Amino acid sequence: MKVDTPVKVRRPIFDSMVPLVRPVLPPFEVLEQDIRRIVGTGMVTKGSFLRDFEAAAARHLNVKHAVAVSSCTTGLMLAYQALGLEGDVVVPSFTFMATVSALVWAGLRPVFADVDPRTANLDPVAAERAITPRTSAIVGVHIFGNPADAEELQAVANRHQLKLVFDAAHGFGSLYQGAPVGPQGDVQVYSLSPTKLLIAGEGGIVATNDDELAEKIRIGREYGNAGNYDSAFAGMNARMPQFNAVMGMRSLDILEQAAERRNAVVDLYQWRLRDLPGIDFQEVRNGNRNSYKDFSITIDAEEAGITRDALADALADDNIDTRKYYEPPVHRHTAYREFADHAELPNTEMLANRSLSLPAWSSMDDEIVLGICESVRNVWEAA
Ligand SMILES: Cc1ncc(COP(=O)(O)O)c(C=O)c1O
Repeated sequence: MKVDTPVKVRRPIFDSMVPLVRPVLPPFEVLEQDIRRIVGTGMVTKGSFLRDFEAAAARHLNVKHAVAVSSCTTGLMLAYQALGLEGDVVVPSFTFMATVSALVWAGLRPVFADVDPRTANLDPVAAERAITPRTSAIVGVHIFGNPADAEELQAVANRHQLKLVFDAAHGFGSLYQGAPVGPQGDVQVYSLSPTKLLIAGEGGIVATNDDELAEKIRIGREYGNAGNYDSAFAGMNARMPQFNAVMGMRSLDILEQAAERRNAVVDLYQWRLRDLPGIDFQEVRNGNRNSYKDFSITIDAEEAGITRDALADALADDNIDTRKYYEPPVHRHTAYREFADHAELPNTEMLANRSLSLPAWSSMDDEIVLGICESVRNVWEAA
């Protein structure tokens, strides 16, 4: 009798899916008393918890004003509007779509400039090359939490008398020359959504040292109504509810711990993976700290003998979730192609083809990191 040779099926390294990110929230006991007070008083919006959170965020970021808003996207829309920008704005394409969607909402034209292939941040030289007489601002992004080249971008902005904005969506937990990113540029806008290190549920912070700009953003988040029921300009409702402010405040208490843990997780990843040919890591400039909102590696298919997409598939077989941030880059999204006629973005394209974000969160165990590294190493050995 013929006996079939059993097909050997390897068990996945993880029995259940390892997510890309797991939000780490303050414990309920820590929030409970404040939530009771909000419910008890009925002050669910525009109350003392919101003001306290704004004051604490401003202290942490070392800026005069931290205006809490409903999201980073609405914060960016309000900031672009409040700066009185016109015409063109230089912006990277290797970013999340909201950096650019907010520009278009504010009636501005994005002009895409390339990024540095090592840091994945806007290249100041490419940004300067993209400037024309129509340009009114430059937008840098601390991509994945890696602080942008603020000093160089400021020098470019100064030379051409442009405003400088930072999309700091990934910026809580990032250090620029030893201190939290915040005071650089005209304004920085943070996200507090659940994939970030500092979580308010949903929400954003607009940080600036400019009194007039802060006031415009406060009015803008309130429909454009300064309090006299005569709209100063067309605003929106972009207020942060008090519940979110409470969570943001308590999340601020555990931010440093979160950033340190993520950096330890990334150290472990790099220690286990750095000898693999064709694999590379985001470069962080001396004196800076990446928040590692995302931990993204690049895979050079020729050197590695495997493509980024094949690696992602192999990791999925081991129940490991990954993301191809940022593929497609924003200039190739249907909505923004019309702005990319002459854009030459070789580094953006290279990173979009090669970049893969691996799971990383603020309470991740070493064992999970080691399991993911084992899965990656198996792929290399097979290749
Ligand atoms: C770079 C960047 N900008 C803006 C946003 C939008 O943030 P929010 O979801 O708070 O509007 C995100 C979201 O993750 C982002 O990654």
